[in-house]
Amino acid sequence: MGTDNIRMTETGDVRQQILEVLLKERDAFISGNELSQRTGVSRTAVWKHIKALETAGFRFASSTRVGYRLTEVPDLLFPALVAERVPAGQHIGRKVVWYSEVDSTNRVAADWVQENAPHGTVVTAETQTGGKGRRGRGWFSPAGGLWLSVIFRAPIPVRVAADLTLLTSVAVRRAIVQETGLPVQIKWPNDLLLHGKKICGILAEIRADGETLQHAVIGVGLNSNIPAAAFPHALTDYATSLAAYSDQPISNLQLAGRLFSELEQLFQGLILHGQGFGHVLDEWRAASATLGRRVRVQTPQGLVEGVATDINAGGILYVRQDNGLVVPIHSGDVLF
Ligand code: BTN
Repeated sequence: MGTDNIRMTETGDVRQQILEVLLKERDAFISGNELSQRTGVSRTAVWKHIKALETAGFRFASSTRVGYRLTEVPDLLFPALVAERVPAGQHIGRKVVWYSEVDSTNRVAADWVQENAPHGTVVTAETQTGGKGRRGRGWFSPAGGLWLSVIFRAPIPVRVAADLTLLTSVAVRRAIVQETGLPVQIKWPNDLLLHGKKICGILAEIRADGETLQHAVIGVGLNSNIPAAAFPHALTDYATSLAAYSDQPISNLQLAGRLFSELEQLFQGLILHGQGFGHVLDEWRAASATLGRRVRVQTPQGLVEGVATDINAGGILYVRQDNGLVVPIHSGDVLF
């Protein structure tokens, strides 16, 4: 099997099955024969899968007599590795589709929606060649970052769909703070900043049927393990990464595990109890890089300039202009 564009789907995948067996019995050697019997493919096929896994960064101790033992796992969101971090009953991350490279995980996730992928499915890739940002912009997506899209399928009223991105920004921030302790702030509406530079963007694409949401694809781009030097010159004033401010290696797997658990909690609150953005408003305000600051906001109606005074439970930002008029802003980009 080719190693360039590897795709890992769910547990039914033979390579995943091999990995699951070896992960479950990490200290033991499992013979090629046993792996072949448990997966229903030939020993040669097992060997080829092991080689492909080695190319992806897994390491095995192996010998022709005793078989294979897993000695090292890479920091990649392979379904079997994520599964170890998804407790029973959790929807987000239960099914993971991992690619070495795609154009955009949001676009690929839309294909999986057509394939009836369930609520909580995560589509992720090591790199994106056509990562999508907000307002038609691109998204720099080299190896080392966390690029993923979550499929949300629940018939919530479409008027609260905007809460999905706001809740996601809170979930990502929680995951980063838990994992790294770094002082991450939220810039309205849903960018995450570290020391004033962007480390995460969120792009939600929704489909509605009248007043009811059919599905949403929520894309999260987190500059986690990207070395500072890897950013193109044009981005260095605006963007940075967790790795640039951490002396510890950042684990994408750990971050993703925490993120999925936070998303599960916030999304279930919304789906089951109608707890929208208002439920985390105080937390958002406390983490805000926007409130109290002088801002210029590019809105569909034009530029609004003044001091950002508050945000409400609907995610609307209030800007007090110099003439004293307070303008409610529903959507836009804040320029500091
Ligand atoms: C922004 O402009 O701030 C939003 C950026 C969103 C980027 C993420 S990366 C994973 C997902 N796939 C995409 O193509 N875009 C989102």
